[in-house]
Amino acid sequence: MKHKIIVTGGLGFIGSHTVVCLHEAGFEPIIIDNLSNSEASAMDGIEQLIGYKPIWANIDVNDKAALGNVIKEHQPQGVIHFAAFKAVGESVEKPLTYYRNNVGGLITLMEVLKEENIDNLVFSSSCTVYGEPDEIPVKESTQTKMAESPYGATKQIGEIILKDNANWLNTQCLRYFNPIGAHESGFIGELPIGVPNNLIPYLTQTVAGIRKELTVFGDDYNTTDGTCIRDYIHVMDLAEAHVFAINRLINGEQKEPFEVFNIGTGNGSSVLEVIQAFEKANGIPVPHKIGPRRAGDVIQVWAETTKVEHVLGWKAKRTLETMLKDAWNWQTKLS
Ligand code: UD1
Repeated sequence: MKHKIIVTGGLGFIGSHTVVCLHEAGFEPIIIDNLSNSEASAMDGIEQLIGYKPIWANIDVNDKAALGNVIKEHQPQGVIHFAAFKAVGESVEKPLTYYRNNVGGLITLMEVLKEENIDNLVFSSSCTVYGEPDEIPVKESTQTKMAESPYGATKQIGEIILKDNANWLNTQCLRYFNPIGAHESGFIGELPIGVPNNLIPYLTQTVAGIRKELTVFGDDYNTTDGTCIRDYIHVMDLAEAHVFAINRLINGEQKEPFEVFNIGTGNGSSVLEVIQAFEKANGIPVPHKIGPRRAGDVIQVWAETTKVEHVLGWKAKRTLETMLKDAWNWQTKLS
């Protein structure tokens, strides 16, 4: 019998790719997703890739009774918890919504796990917990800073709550850098609702003619070319990291009940470098202009990956060129 893994937010961008990777690794993924920032069509893409539609419960992780029923019924070996809101700007406008959903949802899930004696959890954290770091590349041990937004605070608080419950819960806490790209088939990818906030969906929508031009948020930072630097990682590399984390939990390989890993490539790219790389990879120009800085942007951050490579045994394989080709392939299938 296959090990069952519950994937909350399993129809979202990272969740849907992880569902495919779990299936390929021999697990049975079971999806919990209330479509608050995803679309049911992701299920069709998953089906095309794995040959069947996984079980899907359309429920809110804050609905304890409904969540409890699903977890009780399936008795999973572990849970991967993606379900959370992630728009930095929106979190500033609606902080309570973010605390309720991201912190409240995590607590509700943990209460259910405790009641059902399930003690393996993979948590979606973010490089946002480092704030504007004192050292780059950032290590897992680098001091975290005051969060720049309620969104960032929900990730920091989530990590604290999990650490405080390490007496009964084993957690793999994955700090994602900037996930981009799509499955190479173009069957699944990112589906931003409304005007995208993030660089790559805005860029691909611009090239597709949906947006007029991309604005580069500031070119007067103290970086190589004046634009902000991030560690962009292919969403499939990121998804595969979850399989490593789940295996580590199930095989009892953890050294400590709460373990943190940076999930990045270890390479930083500036906004202008990404634009140039996109143009080179796809042979299409990106209409863009330089605009003012965006409030709350970190200047530069990329991952130190020594720990994740040596301890978890995972390493990102795909290049920036592949990420940008796959992102464009996905956009062309959408428009
Ligand atoms: C941030 C968080 C990340 C979080 C994500 C959720 C940090 C370092 N990162 O990502 O943890 O998961 O929000 O949304 O806190 N840019 C433009 N023009 C655009 C859009 C973006 O120039 O139209 C630039 C930004 O200024 C930034 C880079 O592109 O330098 C990446 O931006 P974005 O894709 O929004 O991600 P982050 O803000 O890095």
